[in-house]
Amino acid sequence: MDRIYLDNSATSFPKPPGVIEAITAFVRDCGASAGRGAYAEARACETMIATCRARIAELINAESPERIVLAMNCSEGLSIAIRGLLNTAARGTHAIATAMEHNSVLRPLNALKEQIGVDPEFIPCDPASGLVDPDDIRRAIRPETKLIACVHVSNVTGTLQPIADVARIAREHDIPCVVDAAQSAGHVEIDVQALGVDLLAFPGHKGLLGPLGTGVLYVRPDVEERLATMKEGGTGTISEQAVQPQTMPDKYEIGSHNAVGLAGLSESVAWVLNRGAAAIREHDVGLCGAFMELTAGVDGLTVYGPRDIEHRAGVFSVNVDRMAPGALADRLESQYGLLTRPGVHCAPLAHETIGTHPDGTCRLSFGPMTTESDIETAASALREIASR
Ligand code: ALA
Repeated sequence: MDRIYLDNSATSFPKPPGVIEAITAFVRDCGASAGRGAYAEARACETMIATCRARIAELINAESPERIVLAMNCSEGLSIAIRGLLNTAARGTHAIATAMEHNSVLRPLNALKEQIGVDPEFIPCDPASGLVDPDDIRRAIRPETKLIACVHVSNVTGTLQPIADVARIAREHDIPCVVDAAQSAGHVEIDVQALGVDLLAFPGHKGLLGPLGTGVLYVRPDVEERLATMKEGGTGTISEQAVQPQTMPDKYEIGSHNAVGLAGLSESVAWVLNRGAAAIREHDVGLCGAFMELTAGVDGLTVYGPRDIEHRAGVFSVNVDRMAPGALADRLESQYGLLTRPGVHCAPLAHETIGTHPDGTCRLSFGPMTTESDIETAASALREIASR
């Protein structure tokens, strides 16, 4: 039985051609650490990382490659953003996020509540679609609001939030806007300048199709002046100075880079650029349409999230009546070779929103390597299981 990977929200698989070769070539032929030597291999590593950074900047239309901070994953990028903005905030500082956020946003905000008395407010979202109403965000703003965070695409329902509207509201009130693009970067077109977001975090290993252990935080020009460092350490630059450089991106990148991962990421981002975000989105829209059509009206099967494609991406939560999500995932794997993720997906409030807390759902998430035939197999498996 073929194994069909439908867990691209956790991490992408398989990787595009050339990624494994780029990783192997770096380890075999270079192996040096950027900024930590003057010899040719160390300089080659610097050039490789600069190329990776420039490609990521091009993908999201960042003002320059220096706006791209390389992190371990999206969670780390979000932590740099949220804690950098709020760590020294006054007691009672208000922070707004949506009820569809991942723990990568919920947990730093709740920890800041415990530690320094930040007051987080999670705006309820529509139970059927998971959509936030930007006017609810506007109405929640108070003089002490110092952060607005919004997930771009929900990792539970695939809901595509109106982040341009959210960012505009934040800008009108001069409040920094943080976007969690964990499930959108590489899957949908992102132009950070057109969107007007201040900070946008995303993984390298999901939609950008690179290896695990890679992530990014985009920082809009001048926002670093409001963003304290969370960690300090060696950068390989301005080494004569015993305090953290304030220059981008060194301010937030400490220690030797994950150059092995970045060698793969640079290659995968080149693949994404070459395929084009619009074409990748079109492919995803086709898969979403097929999945919704093939699973519509099946007795005993619930498919969550928006029904209209313009408000969603290829992340689907499903449940079969009288079956635990874990049992459904086991059945999908053992009988059909379908790899999915059951449970609460680190997004408890999103599951509360759609009424599936605490058991959760079984999630199927698509990527650019997912085919129509994979979707047909998944839909027919779900139909069969629901009918038994
Ligand atoms: N946040 C990732 C997921 O939804 C890991 O699976």
